[in-house]
Amino acid sequence: MEQLFKKIRTEEIQDNVFKLIGKDWMLVTSGTPDNYNMMTASWGAAGVLWRKPIAITFVRPQRHTFGFLEKQPFFTLSFFPEEQRELLNICGTTSGRDLNKMNIDGLNAVEAPSGSVAFEEARLVLECRKIYFDDIRPEFFQVFDIEKIYPAKDYHRFYIGEIIQAWEKE
Ligand SMILES: Cc1cc2nc3c(=O)[nH]c(=O)nc-3n(C[C@H](O)[C@H](O)[C@H](O)COP(=O)(O)O)c2cc1C
Repeated sequence: MEQLFKKIRTEEIQDNVFKLIGKDWMLVTSGTPDNYNMMTASWGAAGVLWRKPIAITFVRPQRHTFGFLEKQPFFTLSFFPEEQRELLNICGTTSGRDLNKMNIDGLNAVEAPSGSVAFEEARLVLECRKIYFDDIRPEFFQVFDIEKIYPAKDYHRFYIGEIIQAWEKE
């Protein structure tokens, strides 16, 4: 990881987080170098909680990535240059249950110090330690049209990760 990326403090991240997550999208990756899975996500957040820099990812329970996130103590969020958009489309439309995403050409795994996995091709990686999770609960919606997002009642589970290290491409 250290050969490809340089460590930066979260305060040094220049990107606009709304664009970064909502428009550029990210790969949420969980697992270890010999067994990991990743999915594209465009819903999430980053900020500060409990005096820590944190990122939050929202994952529906039917995702293959969900099982990894449940078991693993760390996950990464990887952000890519525009050239990788097609790979993000693939990871966002195919499931690790049907395609071993570890074999996708153009997404080369790199191990982060926590033992979690990011990608050589990323331009920014947030290495996260899972510190909290919860499920979206429909009884707490204050605006009722949000319910329409869940016709199958597959409410997201969200994982709050402490950003233990941010990495930027050299
Ligand atoms: C642009 C985009 C954004 C997505 N955002 C999310 C998200 O935030 N949460 C989620 O659960 N699924 C999201 N998905 C869907 C998953 O990426 C998709 O279902 C993927 O195939 C899951 O892979 P997996 O089964 O290997 O985990 C998104 C898909 C795309 C294309």
